[in-house]
Amino acid sequence: MAAPGLSGKRILLSGAGSGIGRAAARLFQARGAELLLVGRRLDALRETLPSAVCVALDHADEDAVSAFAQTCPPLDGLFLAAGELCTGSVEASPGAVFDAMIAANLRGPWLLAHHLGPLLKPGASVVLVGSNIGLRAIPDSAAYSVAKAGVHMLAKVLALEWAPRRIRCNAIAPGPVHTPMVEARLAASADSAGDLARLAGVNPLGRLGTEAEVAALAAHLLSDESAWTTGTVIPLDGGADAVY
Ligand SMILES: NC(=O)c1ccc[n+]([C@@H]2O[C@H](COP(=O)([O-])OP(=O)(O)OC[C@H]3O[C@@H](n4cnc5c(N)ncnc54)[C@H](OP(=O)(O)O)[C@@H]3O)[C@@H](O)[C@H]2O)c1
Repeated sequence: MAAPGLSGKRILLSGAGSGIGRAAARLFQARGAELLLVGRRLDALRETLPSAVCVALDHADEDAVSAFAQTCPPLDGLFLAAGELCTGSVEASPGAVFDAMIAANLRGPWLLAHHLGPLLKPGASVVLVGSNIGLRAIPDSAAYSVAKAGVHMLAKVLALEWAPRRIRCNAIAPGPVHTPMVEARLAASADSAGDLARLAGVNPLGRLGTEAEVAALAAHLLSDESAWTTGTVIPLDGGADAVY
């Protein structure tokens, strides 16, 4: 079967300067999409794809998102990958950490959906990036996990709100993927090799995911071949979600 085509689709990506967002941008361009890349570091976005339209934007800053929306053209898709991870339990995480995790992971996609929603064309598709630890609890990433659980519900709510306009919305819930986010987490550990082995060991396939695997599922969800898929949260985690 041919790879899902994105030809003729104008897609905006957040978090395209790194990791999953960067891999997705390169895949979507190779499949024919016209791209707008947003993230805080313009140089990183340009390194991802020098030929794409790149815009420096903090997705948690409502004034900036609102101003950007005034200049943004109509869109066929959104892939919202921007996010940040802080570890720590509830008791170890003061309110400022909670607020930062909500801003980076949930307020951002909310604001982009709120301000860019009116620009989505009939038949458009939106893909949010949640996390498998927004589906299943672990003890050391409390604020992040709670924010990602909110992202999953946001995808479902948007699917209902937008269905009358034939606009779809789904979320991908990845398990650990080897990106700069995971590298930073491992670098901060006293036992990074042990942590890496533990991350790989929690799923039946026994390895981390790749950026390309997340990008490929996103391309499917953004393409018309998934035209009847909306309101879903898809675990992409080597089978971890299936383990009792
Ligand atoms: N890697 C994993 O194991 C894993 C697992 C599950 C879910 N996820 C999720 O997958 C997504 C991509 O993660 P990744 O691993 O590719 O991480 P990454 O390499 O750290 O990339 C995250 C990107 O988010 C952008 N970003 C962060 N805060 C932002 C803000 N306020 N406004 C605009 N952009 C912002 C960063 O861009 P700037 O620095 O330029 O702002 C960066 O390009 C995230 O939502 C993450 O939570 C990752």
